[in-house]
Amino acid sequence: MRMVEIIEKKRDGKALSTEEIDYFVQGYADGNIPDYQASSLLMAIMLRGMSDREIRDLTLAMAHSGEMLDLKDAAPFVVDKHSTGGVGDKVSLVIGPAVAACGLPVGKMSGRGLGFSGGTLDKLESIPGFHCDLSVAEFKQQLREIGFVLAGQSVNLAPADGKLYALRDVTGTVPSLPLIVSSVMSKKIAAGADAIVLDVKTGSGAFMKTVEDAERLAESMVRIGNEVGRKVVALLSDMNQPLGWAVGNSLEVREAIDTLHGAGPQDFLEHCLVVGGEMLALGGQAQDAVQGRALVEQAIESGAAWQKFRQMVIAQGGDVRYLDEPQRFPAAGIVRVSTASVSGYLARVKTDEIGMATVGLGGGRLQKGDPVDHAVGLMLHLKVGEWITAGEPLFTVHANDEARCAEAERRVLAALTFSEAPVEALPLFYKRVI
Ligand code: URA
Repeated sequence: MRMVEIIEKKRDGKALSTEEIDYFVQGYADGNIPDYQASSLLMAIMLRGMSDREIRDLTLAMAHSGEMLDLKDAAPFVVDKHSTGGVGDKVSLVIGPAVAACGLPVGKMSGRGLGFSGGTLDKLESIPGFHCDLSVAEFKQQLREIGFVLAGQSVNLAPADGKLYALRDVTGTVPSLPLIVSSVMSKKIAAGADAIVLDVKTGSGAFMKTVEDAERLAESMVRIGNEVGRKVVALLSDMNQPLGWAVGNSLEVREAIDTLHGAGPQDFLEHCLVVGGEMLALGGQAQDAVQGRALVEQAIESGAAWQKFRQMVIAQGGDVRYLDEPQRFPAAGIVRVSTASVSGYLARVKTDEIGMATVGLGGGRLQKGDPVDHAVGLMLHLKVGEWITAGEPLFTVHANDEARCAEAERRVLAALTFSEAPVEALPLFYKRVI
């Protein structure tokens, strides 16, 4: 088989065979196919799409590119959740420990920042010492002992996704349905969870801009999960503005800490309660998502979720003093508040631009392997539908470089639209797909 012929076939809009897909995935994972050929194929897939059969083949080939975890000797039933990528999305940091504190083991393989969207691993690595490169034995042991693991791809799970994910991030090939489905579901299938809740984002800060596209993505992921015997529920959630206030790695960890202490932003907390409730219901720990929501709320109020988060961070080498005294997180050198120049209701947010402003500050990657500055980011002080009077604080930039700070200010200002007429608040969720 020749890689160039596979690229040409997809370029011309033809379906790839199972063998061709296997050849590409294994060859790229093994290092036998160079980045330039893999990038060409990714772009061809992005432009030409894939049939349901091709998407399933790609997903399974990626899942089987490394080890397939069997967690039965670690926990009888394990739940996982995954977001398709958003801005200010720190949900896993709160619901992972909350759900685990309710007695349902959570074994999660997370990702890094992708395009304008942040990544849970980058956020957690702002805690000095924290590592996510667990071996399979360590993953299982932590699941057995603490009931909560947040690992990275280094566990040799779906290594093809690890490589393709990093390549997509820098080749303009992120917002593609087949590539998102195979990326998310290969990790979920390989990581061995019995039940998976998918948080499928839609809107200006999501890869799927419309509810219809997000629904197609959700249906495809649920179908593949069910085909391989997993219980899957997808929630279509709004990403037309950042979730919570904070965007940027350590700023988001601090906001998650506040939320675990019952002092987080209302929209973010509510989002966590709903997704966590679904996880408990799917895992049989609650009769339904409503009861599950109440249990997650109790786990946060009682401090059990907070204790579970500390246990996980300690087990993965993190310096827990940063959690207990969050003022220890290194602050950015420049912290600048921008005020509103006019009064009005916040009408629209180009949320992907907010994400890119954070990447531009150094909070994400422009090239493969770029280092990430954990201290930089943004705090937005207003939600869509809220009124602001000229002169009031609108957002705060945390930067380590004057020119980048100015560029972020310009970008965020350009991303916000105001209206004199009242504007409705945005919903948190649109739909549930099963
Ligand atoms: N999350 C993933 O793991 N992969 C994607 O492609 C998008 C979001």
